[in-house]
Amino acid sequence: MGELMRRYWIPVLLSQEISEPDGAPVRVRLLGEDLVAFRDSKGRIGLLAEHCSHRGTSLYYGRNEECGLRCIYHGWKYDIDGNVLETPAEPADSTLKNKVHHTAYPCKEAAGIVFAYMGPKERIPLFPNYEWTTLAPDHLYVTKSIQDCNYLQGLEGECDSSHLSFLHRAFTENKRGGGDPDMYGRDGAPHLEGVETDFGVRMISCRNAGDGFTYLRVSNFVMPCYGFVPTGGLKGNLEGYTIHAHVPVDDKHALRFNIFFRRNRPVTDEEKRLEAEIGPDHVKARNIHNDYLQSRQEQRHETFTGMGKNFLIHDSCATESMGPIVDRAREHLGVGDITVIAIRKFLLQAVRSLDSGKEPPHVIRTAEQNNLFHVACIVEKMDSSIDPKQHIAELLKKDKYWETVG
Ligand code: FES
Ligand SMILES: [Fe+2]
Repeated sequence: MGELMRRYWIPVLLSQEISEPDGAPVRVRLLGEDLVAFRDSKGRIGLLAEHCSHRGTSLYYGRNEECGLRCIYHGWKYDIDGNVLETPAEPADSTLKNKVHHTAYPCKEAAGIVFAYMGPKERIPLFPNYEWTTLAPDHLYVTKSIQDCNYLQGLEGECDSSHLSFLHRAFTENKRGGGDPDMYGRDGAPHLEGVETDFGVRMISCRNAGDGFTYLRVSNFVMPCYGFVPTGGLKGNLEGYTIHAHVPVDDKHALRFNIFFRRNRPVTDEEKRLEAEIGPDHVKARNIHNDYLQSRQEQRHETFTGMGKNFLIHDSCATESMGPIVDRAREHLGVGDITVIAIRKFLLQAVRSLDSGKEPPHVIRTAEQNNLFHVACIVEKMDSSIDPKQHIAELLKKDKYWETVG
């Protein structure tokens, strides 16, 4: 799965973590590798193996100066491409620096996030052209949190519509998040379907909304690590949706990037406040080490979890408390897990096809493939006699999307 993940551009850190040219480097652990990220004098981003190619001192402590990162032990200096620019402790005519290449991964910045490609150089794909990667910075609010479990547990939470009716339930008024709590609270056993696509799995959940109507939610698992989730109810359809990226740090930890965007306006402070609760070190204020500050009083009277109203915290408790790598042989899956099963199947197929030498799905090579419209939306009242897949086919005709959904 790690090899598969390396065939895509994946989120690594927030741009703001290395905001200044020649500023302090940042430690990054990704796909089991220890790395350092830095922004050089020209503003370009480097992502290098943490340990110096000379004798292994950490480059985290290095001097970020004059377009390179210099090791503090003997002054070896690296550029963002991993070239050794100088080996000042060697004789002036030494050619050692030409024989050494330091591990370095190409990076790109979009949506306030630094993405890296960690796969084979000759297989580097186009950078995905998602709607939210092209917006002005103030139209996005992006956070990153450290998750104390395997990335797939987090990702499976994106593919599990029925938990909305329980985990995120509030007994008092709650206008935020996954849309219309009244709607998804009413029917806790939605009819689910996972439809395989060229980019991943489109997930459909239909709840009985009474009077011959269906409450339809459409979200997407997008290769290799994204959930595209509708948020903010019907109004949200017009304004944007939410993306959660689950990136493996190692087998037992992950990063969750929470990407909130508004198409046509800046994100408000109120919206930012609702998304917060993550410390400057990216550790959640409520986490597994403090039992998510659960209040039994609150659990009795206000919320299903007793852990406040931030969905991130609920999701984290649900997936981290399984243990760092859950033993799936002990699960008892039901009809409500159909979409979880669908993405497991999709990922396994992708791994097998990579093993057999094929290009995995959604590795983007052509401009045509890069014209991406992954609809995530809520349809409050769809006539129950309509086939949801047919309805979605209509939605995917972009020009019709706004009238139909709005
Ligand atoms: S260990 Fe880095 S220069 Fe010697
Ligand atoms: Fe959730």
